[in-house]
Amino acid sequence: MKYHSASFFFLILLSCIAFIQCANKIDTLETVSPDGKIKINFFLTENGIAGYFIHYLEKKLIDTSYFGFDFKDDLPFKENLEIINSYTSSFDETWETVWGEQRFIRDNYNELKVELKEKGENSRRFFVVFRVFDDGVGFRFEFPHQENLKDVVILDENTQFKLTEDHICWWIPGDWDIYEHLFSTTKFSEIDAHSKRGHESLAQTYIPENAVSAPITMKSDDGIYISILEANLTDYSEMTLKVDKENILLQSELVGNDAGIKVKTETPFVTPWRLILIGDEASDLVSSRTILNLNEPNVIEDVSWIKPTKYIGIWWEMHIGKSTWDMKSGRHGATTENAKRYIDFAANNGIGAVLIEGWNIGWENWFGTHDREGIFDFVTPYPDYDLNEVVRYANDKGVNIIMHHETSAAIMTYEKQLDTAFALCRGLGIHAVKTGYVGQILPDGEYHFGQWMINHFTKVMKKAAEYQIMINVHEGIKQTGLRRTYPNMMSAEGLRGQEFNAWASDGGNPPEHLTIVPFTRILAGPIDYTPGIFDIKFDKYKKENQVNTTLAHQLALYVTIYSPFQMAADLPENYEGHPAFQFIRDVGVDWDTSIVLNGEIGDFITIARKERNTDKWFLGSITDENERVIDVSLNFLDGGKEYTANIYSDTDDSHWDKNPTAYKIEGKLVNNSDKLTLKLAPGGGTAISFIPSSE
Ligand code: NOJ
Ligand code: CA
Repeated sequence: MKYHSASFFFLILLSCIAFIQCANKIDTLETVSPDGKIKINFFLTENGIAGYFIHYLEKKLIDTSYFGFDFKDDLPFKENLEIINSYTSSFDETWETVWGEQRFIRDNYNELKVELKEKGENSRRFFVVFRVFDDGVGFRFEFPHQENLKDVVILDENTQFKLTEDHICWWIPGDWDIYEHLFSTTKFSEIDAHSKRGHESLAQTYIPENAVSAPITMKSDDGIYISILEANLTDYSEMTLKVDKENILLQSELVGNDAGIKVKTETPFVTPWRLILIGDEASDLVSSRTILNLNEPNVIEDVSWIKPTKYIGIWWEMHIGKSTWDMKSGRHGATTENAKRYIDFAANNGIGAVLIEGWNIGWENWFGTHDREGIFDFVTPYPDYDLNEVVRYANDKGVNIIMHHETSAAIMTYEKQLDTAFALCRGLGIHAVKTGYVGQILPDGEYHFGQWMINHFTKVMKKAAEYQIMINVHEGIKQTGLRRTYPNMMSAEGLRGQEFNAWASDGGNPPEHLTIVPFTRILAGPIDYTPGIFDIKFDKYKKENQVNTTLAHQLALYVTIYSPFQMAADLPENYEGHPAFQFIRDVGVDWDTSIVLNGEIGDFITIARKERNTDKWFLGSITDENERVIDVSLNFLDGGKEYTANIYSDTDDSHWDKNPTAYKIEGKLVNNSDKLTLKLAPGGGTAISFIPSSE
């Protein structure tokens, strides 16, 4: 990309303006989005304090917010700064995804790069870079190599996001160890992260401040939607956002360790991008691909082994208590025989892969103890599980195996075995691993989302790429768009998944859960939620828990939730002979186009997606605990084609609690001038496959 000195492409002002009532001279530099709707101003006060504010459609959206860094053994970056130089440029390019929500993505922004330096002798310098897109603003700090700043220990990054009013917020607490909290919907002034401390269903949790996790999504009084998130998080700590109610602002609070260190690095380095998405409609946030545009292009040359897939697994049966991961119980789930049963089911139903958990020794002592180092072994199967035979059988049937590495957060044990464990997969022709990080991090004093663990997750992702392995991370860092650079980074948990419906002591995930998640956590990237439970009440195994949606809602999740690894999570016996399973057989996992047709956060969402390399379309619509009638125009379908619409919907008396498994299937011939009226029951949904009549 070419840089142009100030004022080449668009308006740059270097002037004294009166946005703050003071006599101080304030230098400001201004940049607008390509469509002119978003305007960002960088400023420097007379005292040399740097900051920014943002206008959307001429109205202030992010108010005067300041920057700053605190360092160990060094003065903070806070004031006394001067602008040495500024550069502007424009970028407009369309790139093709290896897989994803859509095939082609346009990366179009105007950039402002400001070089700042401390005044006086021995001064240090850095850059602030803003990229202004039509749907938001990304900015980051770049620290070049320099004499007066070499080894760097950051005690905090003090980036502010000052709000203009007391917005409605959808948030989870800024937990340093886990995201598996339910989303709360409150005014900004009512955010109380401390109230989420000590949740008894969490194996690890640490909420030191009244802070929230990113993405946090907000709605202003005049109906503008804003989400704050981060992109390209590598060799740095995760950013949580501290709630400052007095000043109505969020301020970055990096995850640290018990030594009080947030980031240890050396120049040159860059911070992750801080990203503010802006939309007139809630659905605009979901349609944004800017987080990917703020990551580097793909570095994996041969991507022939990277393939989105549906999968089943020896998984739900452990969560509901039918079997166990360990062998000692006498109800071991991962036996050769059971694995073959799942493989048969996958082969007979066009499901690409089978995940097998509990296959390796160690599960007797994996949980609830501090003594977890050296417990798990990632190459030695239990005696009743013949790994080679299972893989041979799966190969014969054209089914892939997903390997499972539960680390129980004993990181050194895993890192020591990483090469051997991945080499075993490579040798067996296994191209997918699900990792897991249940428990407090060992070594003590580190947290799941601190720099030390971020570096571990990056190492595993890169190492997996070397061994041609796709990964699906549980209890790991949420996504930040690295899947663009490393398209073997498929899916991640990073939220309260379906498993909570099996055993959580608080009643599981309420019907509204997945009407919030697309507008919050999924803005960061794909989730491995594991939908598709048909036996909603599973009373045979557990009476006190259930899934809190209808069956049709479970089907619709294959479209409303985006993930390139999409599980059919229920037991094969619950799918066998079940007419609704046809939708799971048919539904795509890789998309050419995705269109959010409507949605309100916490209420409902409807998405249509066209499968990549076919002409099939799929639609999913879900509601919260309220029944709803949703009209959809089918004008997204390709013109000049007739489709059979197979409609899987709730019945008149379906209800997530009173009658969750009632559903109906109807077939209809449709084209793109038709309209459909979807009737969603309380906690319900509709799933539709549109198959071109010529196929
Ligand atoms: C928690 C994960 O989220 C779940 O999917 C897995 O089955 C268990 N850990 C055991 O690894
Ligand atoms: Ca989990």
